[in-house]
Amino acid sequence: GNVPLEMHKVRIVQKLNLPPVERRLEAIQEAGNNTFLLKNRDVFMDMLTDSGVNAMSDNQLAAMMQADDSYAGSETFTKLENKIQEIFDKKFFLPAHQGRACENILAQALVKPGTIVATNYHFTTTKAHITLQSGSVEELIIDEGLNINSTHPFKGNMDVDKLKALVEKHGAEKIAFVRLEAGTNLIGGQPFSLENMKEVYKVCRDFGIILILDASLLADNLYFIKEREDAYKNLSIREITRIMSELSDIIYFSARKLGCARGGGICTNSEDIYMKLREYITLYEGFLTYGGMSVREMEAITVGLEETMDENMINQGPQFIAYMVEKLKEKGIPVVTPAGGLGCHIDAMQFVSNIPQSQYPAGALAAALYIASGVRGMERGTLSEQRDENGNETFANVELLRLAMPRRVFTLSQVDYAIDRIVWLYENRQLIEGLTFVEEPKVLRFFFGKLKAV
Ligand code: F0G
Repeated sequence: GNVPLEMHKVRIVQKLNLPPVERRLEAIQEAGNNTFLLKNRDVFMDMLTDSGVNAMSDNQLAAMMQADDSYAGSETFTKLENKIQEIFDKKFFLPAHQGRACENILAQALVKPGTIVATNYHFTTTKAHITLQSGSVEELIIDEGLNINSTHPFKGNMDVDKLKALVEKHGAEKIAFVRLEAGTNLIGGQPFSLENMKEVYKVCRDFGIILILDASLLADNLYFIKEREDAYKNLSIREITRIMSELSDIIYFSARKLGCARGGGICTNSEDIYMKLREYITLYEGFLTYGGMSVREMEAITVGLEETMDENMINQGPQFIAYMVEKLKEKGIPVVTPAGGLGCHIDAMQFVSNIPQSQYPAGALAAALYIASGVRGMERGTLSEQRDENGNETFANVELLRLAMPRRVFTLSQVDYAIDRIVWLYENRQLIEGLTFVEEPKVLRFFFGKLKAV
């Protein structure tokens, strides 16, 4: 059968707490029905994100003990720089404290007012930085990408015809850059194919447009290319990475997905781009040989990048997610298919079809699942959007409850527990009520907002 087989063993464990349902009910009320505001001590399985919460390996921990501390020119930075050069074959590396810091710098350096960033799909922080520079974002995802139930292996593909049409309409000089996000976060961790990237690259070359790869979720995307794309299944993960890198003018990443608490960086072969970005690093992040990271984190990232080249390491997350998606599908629970990376995504629009989008079905489902299980997920729907200039809701394309799968953190029996509780909740879904704001912040309201049952 499709039972995932972990190619690692667990040697350090952390105690979990499963508070009784009475406490969970109290806790979610204290949190204003917003899972972001729960305290971890009230949470059994934290499936909010895969960021900063993945398990570290013995080799990562060992490397952290050998870190070389200095403000400038540390040996640790050189190790990281060498690893980046080896894996991505890029000459220049700029360190940053996390993914959105890279986005800030790229947007400041490359997005001029009125320009457009074309992307397969935006990420929240990416879009915020681009619009802050008075640029705009065009989502060029293939139509199938927004189809909840699909068999398309690469729902994260960019529609190349839409890209050509966009360039022809506005002219290449209006396009600040094209951004491909590996493992497209907001539409269910869906990958793009290498073939698609080659086509996008060709358009960028023809028109002289910079192609940027957001490699924060690269590990998942690499795994799916190897698994699902026949033409490349005989290549190693390292070889696939090299090809993706050759097709990218700039690569940036959040290292928080590599088991680290902090970290990120930007690499390129263009001296011109490097010189443009460099001054922002010293302004916002720190000196060029740490960029806001501690040496211990840089050591862990160096090892984490190398481990990303190991298929037996990067397959664990996607295999656990596929297991969860399959089991839920068998029980008739509406989930995003095919299974992607990052986590299992439940379609709230179908799950609580009685709750209108104006009452945040995915937010209501997140709160209800916490009460029913102690499992904490994240709303990815209308609550995560912002109101328009007139104060009206902008309804999201999809209303998802994301249950992230931190890598190498949970056991299969814990995943079975989550599945069991979701099935129970589905059978009792008439108990779930819609939500309305009690306190609604103006910006990024999903982080701090408080809600009550309608
Ligand atoms: N790009 C992608 C594709 C991401 O998934 C994230 C973070 C970032 C950029 C920003 O990186 O957090 O280091 O500043 N995703 C996390 C999540 C926060 O939970 O989806 P960061």
